[in-house]
Amino acid sequence: MNSQKLLNFLANRFQFIQRLQKWAYRLKMAHKISWGYGIILGLFILGTTIGIEVGDYFLWESWQQAQHSRQETELLYRLETDILRARDSQQQLAFLVENPQAWQNKYLHLQKQIVNIKDTWQAIKSFTDSQYHIQNEINNLHLGKIPEFLANYHSFTIDYFQNLEFLVKKIHSNSLELPAIAADQQKLLVNFQNSSESQKFEKLLDDLIHIIALSAKDYARAIAAYDQADILRLSMNIFSVILSTVIAGILAYFTSQIIAHPLKAVTQVAQQITQNSDFDLQAPVISADEVGIMAITFNQLLQHVRLITQELHEKNQRLEIAMADLKHTQAQIIQQEKMSSLGQIVAGVAHEINNPVSFIYGNVAHAREYAANLIDLVQIYQQEYPHPNPVITEAIADIDLDFIKEDLINLLSSIRLGAERIRKIVHSLRNFSRLDEAELKTVDIHQGIESSLLILQNRLQSHLQIQVFKEYQDLPLVECYPSQINQVFMNILLNAIDALEEMGNEYWQMTSTTPQIRIYTKLLEKNRIAISFYDNGIGMNEKVQAKVFDPFFTNKIVGKGMGLGLSVSYQIVTEKHRGKLYFNSVFKQGTEFVMEIPIQQ
Ligand SMILES: Nc1ncnc2c1ncn2[C@@H]1O[C@H](COP(=O)(O)OP(=O)(O)O)[C@@H](O)[C@H]1O
Ligand SMILES: [Mg+2]
Repeated sequence: MNSQKLLNFLANRFQFIQRLQKWAYRLKMAHKISWGYGIILGLFILGTTIGIEVGDYFLWESWQQAQHSRQETELLYRLETDILRARDSQQQLAFLVENPQAWQNKYLHLQKQIVNIKDTWQAIKSFTDSQYHIQNEINNLHLGKIPEFLANYHSFTIDYFQNLEFLVKKIHSNSLELPAIAADQQKLLVNFQNSSESQKFEKLLDDLIHIIALSAKDYARAIAAYDQADILRLSMNIFSVILSTVIAGILAYFTSQIIAHPLKAVTQVAQQITQNSDFDLQAPVISADEVGIMAITFNQLLQHVRLITQELHEKNQRLEIAMADLKHTQAQIIQQEKMSSLGQIVAGVAHEINNPVSFIYGNVAHAREYAANLIDLVQIYQQEYPHPNPVITEAIADIDLDFIKEDLINLLSSIRLGAERIRKIVHSLRNFSRLDEAELKTVDIHQGIESSLLILQNRLQSHLQIQVFKEYQDLPLVECYPSQINQVFMNILLNAIDALEEMGNEYWQMTSTTPQIRIYTKLLEKNRIAISFYDNGIGMNEKVQAKVFDPFFTNKIVGKGMGLGLSVSYQIVTEKHRGKLYFNSVFKQGTEFVMEIPIQQ
């Protein structure tokens, strides 16, 4: 899960994070940065300070405890020392009875020590009273033992020292010179020392020592606790610094995310757009800051680009269509112009020839009749006058009259045949041009094919001697635009002749095959006819096959082909006659063009 997802996940879970996130995204960039840094720095300082303060507090508390323990122990020791000293003085007094000067000194000493004991006692009492609340809070081993001790022995100590004082005063008031009295007095002191009071005093000492031992133990414990608190304080300081750093780091990360995420998202989309040119994409508007405004502006820009691109695209398409139309129309115009001028020439020539030929053809019969009559007349002359004069005889020999008589009729017969043939050609030419027939006509398709072949006779029979095979089925008359259909035949046949010539003379000479064109016609179902033109010429490779019907596509040398024949033919067959024009071709083997049209339009 990446950070953004994590943030979104948290935001979905916790409303306040969501609100915080929304708030953050609404901030301006500069505010985002300053808020981010402010919070991070504040959190770091706060966390660290709290850590240090808490650590210090613990340390201070255990230091207090140690202080208290130390003071208490000191006081108890002082009390012990005072008591021991007093007892020591008291014991020594017994042995100094006979030496009044030393006794007096010791006695003063004892009095001072008693005052000390009282002072210390009082100090302990007031210390205990003032510190009692602290003691309560701290788990002391001897908690309650000191007040108890003080209470137990307070009146006893006062009584004890009063008694002692009283006794000492009593001894002192008597004379110390006399040895007997001195011995008695010494005995009195020793007795006091062995009394039950004195034994209780011993007990007091024991209890005190016990309490001191406990107090010393507490002190040691307090010192140990202080050391531990010191370590704790150090660890707390380190821990709080680390924790604050980690939290601050996490916050810094999320802050940078909040700043960087919208920018990243926009950049990503921008990159995608440049890579794929996909202007349908939209930059996400995540924040309300400068990046958000930039994303909105970017989207508006994209919208513009999209619109402009679309317009451009549409214009381009229109232009392409217009261009194609133009090319097509141009092709058609050129071809039609070509064909119509060819047609006009053909029609004109045919017309011009037609009259003189009819003239010849019409008169040949008469000429033959007249010639026959004249020959008959010459024969009658020769029979009636078998011996003419020498001039006539010589002239007869000169012109070879017998040959003329024989040949003249033959000659006139062949003139008649020739004229007849010319008449046929003229008929075909007119048939082909069919200038007069721009409307639908019902015609014999075979006649159209024949006319085209006749016009191409010269090319078929030139250097190659192309053989033309025909297999015509019986076809009904077909409704069509005859001159246009003849154009198609002409285009296909011309291409076939070109393809055969392209194989080269050597090819046809070296192989036993002959260049040939085969023409089949067939009646199909649904009142359609098919006309197929096959040639065993050069054929077409796939590249050429893909383009044959394109206007201006030609594979031929400049000047020979215009690349319009098939494109115009295609249009004539498919659009004008609702038919089909297709081909099968194998490179270097041959080509077949098939044309199918309905019998009726
Ligand atoms: N029977 C065929 N055999 C081989 N190639 C052909 C044949 N008919 C057409 N083609 C190819 O198709 C091209 C286009 O023919 P066409 O439109 O009539 O233009 P053009 O004859 O002016 O080149 C020709 O250049 C030729 O390469
Ligand atoms: Mg052609």
